[in-house]
Amino acid sequence: MSDLDGGGLDTVTLTIDGVEVTVPKGTRVIEAAERTGVVVPRYCYHPGIPTRPAQCRMCLVEIEGQPKLQPSCVLEAQDGMSILTASETAEKARQSVIEFLLVNHPLDCPICDAAGQCMLQDYAYVTTQLKSRVDEPKTVMGRDRIADDILYFADRCIICTRCVRFMRDVAEDDSLVVAQRGHKAYIDTFPGRDLDNPFQGNIVDVCPVGALVHEDFVFKARAWDMDATAGICPGCSTGCNVTIDTKENQIVRLKPRHNAEVNSYWMCDHGRKHLVMSNRGIRAEVPMIRDGDSLRATDWPTAIAWIAARIRQAGSNGGLGIASPNSSNENLFYFSRLLSRLGIDRWEYSVPQGSTASLPTVPRLELRADRAANGKGGELFGGTRVDAEAVPSPARAGETIVVLEDGLAEAPDGFGSEAGFFLYVGSRLPDAAREADAVLPIATFAEMDGTFTNFEGRVQRFHRALQAPGIARPAWMVLARVLAALDDLEPVSDVGAALDAMASATAAFAGMSWQGLGLKGALVGGDAAAVGAAPAEIDG
Ligand code: SF4
Ligand code: SF4
Ligand code: FES
Repeated sequence: MSDLDGGGLDTVTLTIDGVEVTVPKGTRVIEAAERTGVVVPRYCYHPGIPTRPAQCRMCLVEIEGQPKLQPSCVLEAQDGMSILTASETAEKARQSVIEFLLVNHPLDCPICDAAGQCMLQDYAYVTTQLKSRVDEPKTVMGRDRIADDILYFADRCIICTRCVRFMRDVAEDDSLVVAQRGHKAYIDTFPGRDLDNPFQGNIVDVCPVGALVHEDFVFKARAWDMDATAGICPGCSTGCNVTIDTKENQIVRLKPRHNAEVNSYWMCDHGRKHLVMSNRGIRAEVPMIRDGDSLRATDWPTAIAWIAARIRQAGSNGGLGIASPNSSNENLFYFSRLLSRLGIDRWEYSVPQGSTASLPTVPRLELRADRAANGKGGELFGGTRVDAEAVPSPARAGETIVVLEDGLAEAPDGFGSEAGFFLYVGSRLPDAAREADAVLPIATFAEMDGTFTNFEGRVQRFHRALQAPGIARPAWMVLARVLAALDDLEPVSDVGAALDAMASATAAFAGMSWQGLGLKGALVGGDAAAVGAAPAEIDG
């Protein structure tokens, strides 16, 4: 008798490998097993794809007292069930599945981009299915370009149909199909259709083997050569959770990271390309201070002392602040604090615009028109949003200009030449910053820890994935040192302390801490009710 029948509770209790577990009614056995720490091998099941065709038969489990094995990805957990995921019969069935899949699978592991992260490779080892009994030559199917930037290696495909079902059931785009049947089956676009969807890159992520590969990743890095870091995509204001894969201090790949409140298991293609492009460009690497007509490289203590002296000399006579909407919350906090110290009561930020695209079944995940990660932060720290093509307001002669990370693309010739003091804090040195009195080199978001606030006010952590060049440092650290030299605020050396200072001085962030945010983030204003009110989405 179930709890629902007996006690009105909407849960069922079952035993998995001898461990009792209680789960909501309707939970599949494969998911119930995860709650006990058991990961049942799977290929066609993916928690973010709603359809479960029981295609691969890899997740077969034994139900005590029943003669036949059942696929745990479709089997609903029932009260009193006793499941054995690793019984001799279940293991033997799994071994047969692997042997069958390997009949035509090429020995590509040494050159396959998925090697080291391939579920076929892993399970072949786990089931000790390492020797083939097949003497016949393998079927050769070749390689195809299935989309502009995605290659399909048909020989490696195990026809799990995850890619087809992602496109059809999550993206609601039926341009991908399984062509042919049986051992001749392969994945292709529907005749006369192209795969051209702004979210199609997710098919590469869901592929459990190396059959689908982004062209710009082919032969670029082996799994064991890469480091993975939890980050936030800065491509638009949605703030998708991502994993940044790096090799030799370069970003080589981006993958979505699950966050049910933001992007579920997915991300858009604009975001993937945008971040990989951030490897490019010449960087500012050392502090520079004005020496006559030129800028002279110096060390941090000299630069900070020199800037503090110039600021004291300039006094609090107002001026202009410009910041990038891709600056972190901590950077913006110290920036706005420095502006207050300088008597500057207006600062501007402009957010580049682009077209929008949405993923129909995940309402919160949208490529948003605001192509920056922290426009919301700009708003919360009192910035004035100006048009993306707006020419920066000129400072009056003798006033101070402070620019944080903005590329000054629209700045007119001679920008800043009349200023009493012009401080440029950035990771690159645009032409318009050459009139600056001091240039402080800072880390990009990929080179530091910090937080962004997304379109709906969710504050999310990102972590350092790369080493900053030269002696560049995070802007929050640099600006805190300048403020400390002016006897305002304490210097900070770790992001937790920077966030604490921000949270205690800014009402919207009150009560937040680095540890407390965790990897899922929290809404500004502590609106826990709004967190729980996220729209329903496909999540298991
Ligand atoms: S290409 Fe990958 S995801 Fe698609 S069916 Fe083949 S193995 Fe599965
Ligand atoms: S929707 Fe926005 S934040 Fe998400 S991956 Fe795309 S560009 Fe990045
Ligand atoms: S994962 Fe269950 S049948 Fe494929």
